[in-house]
Amino acid sequence: MSDKVVLAYSGGLDTSVAIKWLKEKYNLDVIAVNIDVGNERDFSAIQQKALDVGAVKSLVKDAKEVFVNHFIFPSLQAGAIYEGQYPLATALSRPLMAKLLVDVAMAEGVSAVAHGCTGKGNDQVRFEVSINALAPSLKIIAPAREWGMTREQTIDYAQRHGIPVPITATSPYSIDENLWGRSIECGVLEDPWVEPPEEVFTWTKSPAEAPNKPDYVEIGFEKGIPVTVDSEKMGGVSLIRRLNELAGRHGVGRIDHIENRLVGIKSREIYEAPAATVLLQAHQALEAMTLSKSQLRFKQKVATEYADLIYNGLWFTSLRQDLAAYVKSSQRFVTGSVRVKLFKGNCSVVGRKSPRSLYDYGLATYDKGDEFDQSASAGFIHIWGLPVRTQARVQGISDLKEE
Ligand code: ARG
Repeated sequence: MSDKVVLAYSGGLDTSVAIKWLKEKYNLDVIAVNIDVGNERDFSAIQQKALDVGAVKSLVKDAKEVFVNHFIFPSLQAGAIYEGQYPLATALSRPLMAKLLVDVAMAEGVSAVAHGCTGKGNDQVRFEVSINALAPSLKIIAPAREWGMTREQTIDYAQRHGIPVPITATSPYSIDENLWGRSIECGVLEDPWVEPPEEVFTWTKSPAEAPNKPDYVEIGFEKGIPVTVDSEKMGGVSLIRRLNELAGRHGVGRIDHIENRLVGIKSREIYEAPAATVLLQAHQALEAMTLSKSQLRFKQKVATEYADLIYNGLWFTSLRQDLAAYVKSSQRFVTGSVRVKLFKGNCSVVGRKSPRSLYDYGLATYDKGDEFDQSASAGFIHIWGLPVRTQARVQGISDLKEE
């Protein structure tokens, strides 16, 4: 009897070829695991395909709820956006997939796991760092990194081994998608000067073709978690789906990012993340109402750290746990509603309210309800400006002198 390996199976060309290749090269029988993180696909067809190609067992794991509650929402609460652009959809899914692969390996008493990542990307790092952290004794095999085949050679290998080549394999693009977003790379996109052709987008309408009338949507948050859309209570998965659909229809959520990969390469990535765009913006708007200035300043630093850590495959670390604890605590009063306008590719926050708002009309108004003691400002300015006056008197303001 030959040994077994648990393979993260997507149903695509590379992981299908990997099933045969693992048998040929290492005499390993493959247990294929397809993980559903909200990439709407025909999972029973994928499950069957793995068996057809030669897997000894094929499993589908529905991980949507866990993905939303334990990965997406904590990241939303943190305000994690990589390099100010990428909401981290792919990056967030990898540690979860790693965990599920390890679980299957343990349950099946298997000592090796495999994934279909190449040696040039971030995903190999995320998978392997996570797997090593969770189960240091598991051996990891990365067929696509080892076999050194070009795309054509992989297609040829598939044809020679009777593996159906999906039509997507002949597409020039490499795509990954889940509930939080869709990423597209390769093909003409590798020229950073070339505008992404319309064909790469499937979740978002071109803003030019989006409706001429805006849609307004009201998102209700409880402690930083979105719980209602237009007052209708919704679970996380359906809420994200609803917003992907609604914002996508208005062309919201297209992102064109020259991104710094962990392995040192700059790459050009196109993302579609309608729900993520809306929710991150709405959440930020609610925080602006409910967090103090210093909380907001500090949390911005945490958000950058958190985003880098997710991107860099460091989910299963104490630092992540510590930052998560801070973020959770910061969300105590991030409760309320945000009104968002979706129009021609733009998402703008046009209203916000919270029972715990720090926005105080009596202090802010210039009308007759004014409660602010303006006479106190003179003394405040005197002290605030003290070091400025002192320095200017003693040292002058040198850049004025130079002119
Ligand atoms: N650059 C993104 C990341 O590292 C997305 C990679 C997804 N892969 C793809 N084939 N488009 O998280």
